[in-house]
Amino acid sequence: TAVYPFFGEHQSGIVTPAQDRLHFASYDVADISRDELVELLQDWSAAAALMTQGEQAGKFGAVNGNYDAPPDDTGEALGLPASGLTITFGFGPTLFQAADGTDRFGIAGRRPAALVDLPHFPADMLQDALSGGDLCIQACSDDPQVAVHAIRNLSRIAFGRANIRWSQLGFGRTSSTTKAQQTPRNLFGFKDGTANIKAEDTGVVDDQVWASGGDGAAWMAGGSYLVSRKIRMTIETWDRTSLREQEAVIGRTKGEGAPYSGGTEFSEPDFSATGQGGAPLIAQDAHVRLSHPDQNSGAQLLRRGYNFVDGNDDLGRLNAGLFFIAYQRDPREQFIPIQMNLAKNDAMNEYIRHVGSAVFAVPPGARQGGYVGETLF
Ligand code: HEM
Repeated sequence: TAVYPFFGEHQSGIVTPAQDRLHFASYDVADISRDELVELLQDWSAAAALMTQGEQAGKFGAVNGNYDAPPDDTGEALGLPASGLTITFGFGPTLFQAADGTDRFGIAGRRPAALVDLPHFPADMLQDALSGGDLCIQACSDDPQVAVHAIRNLSRIAFGRANIRWSQLGFGRTSSTTKAQQTPRNLFGFKDGTANIKAEDTGVVDDQVWASGGDGAAWMAGGSYLVSRKIRMTIETWDRTSLREQEAVIGRTKGEGAPYSGGTEFSEPDFSATGQGGAPLIAQDAHVRLSHPDQNSGAQLLRRGYNFVDGNDDLGRLNAGLFFIAYQRDPREQFIPIQMNLAKNDAMNEYIRHVGSAVFAVPPGARQGGYVGETLF
């Protein structure tokens, strides 16, 4: 199975081929000092460097430590390979400046301008308990046990310093981030990730994904900005909708994933193509028209989301949807205008509800032996 580096110019888990499973956690930092925060980040990086290489967390692991102390590693990944594990850390706006304006860690002046508080979008139904956070960890792996083990051990290491605010399990990727991967499907049954930014398009990645030193915050050079949105899908309503309507909403065919204007999966959509009576083949309110760079001043996103089913609600409907994750160079130029366009006009809105939201600055990767965040402190 795959093993990805922890140290490097960029953090892994962004252009890395999207793994099959996700455990994502957002944390609130306790009342600790700046030095203690730095220590937490150092401890997290040290453990992440081990676990991503298929090793146990801590010096003595699960069974070789002091017999009368709790083990360094919780043990459930013993004997499992790295399974493509990546651990990606991010810093939320409230790490830089608390809601009441206090500068807990002396970093308010270093908050990147691009790390904005997201605006309220039309029809947002956000729950506070599913939104925000001072720190985040995205753990992706091809084995769910390995992803959960990572979040569990990092949460344990953070005990007394940071605690989980909300977390999300994802069970099927809804994007491809490399050309070699097959396009997966989301819970609407459609191929998702066809027109995503792919790692091989290095020019686009440099232009649209990585922050540069000249963007305003020099410490973010080689980093990126992560927007997560927990999007509930009202799949029972969707499942009673005709195939014709479903395809019109997306603007692509369900089987092949080809644009409604013709061709095959990877053909470019032709938004000017018309059918009988002069109506556009790809409707004005189709999701792929409204999210396409042509409609958004060239802005693109690297999407890296996952399907979720969190049991069911009290009406017997599956609590299902898409945990949307997008990486970008500047949310002010990318996620925000695209989502504003979608929230106002997308035909898909009838079948979805945004219930959680967060934004994080994802710093560059750490130098060998260093820690993620070292350029900030
Ligand atoms: C494309 C589904 C939410 C941005 C697509 C495609 C599907 C899809 C099926 C076409 C295949 C592809 O190119 O990947 C969904 C579903 C969503 C959702 C089911 C919610 C449950 C969002 C959100 C955004 C977004 C919130 C950003 C604000 C995009 C973009 C494209 C796309 C940028 C590519 C457009 C292009 O370049 O052709 N989505 N999407 N989507 N979506 Fe979404």
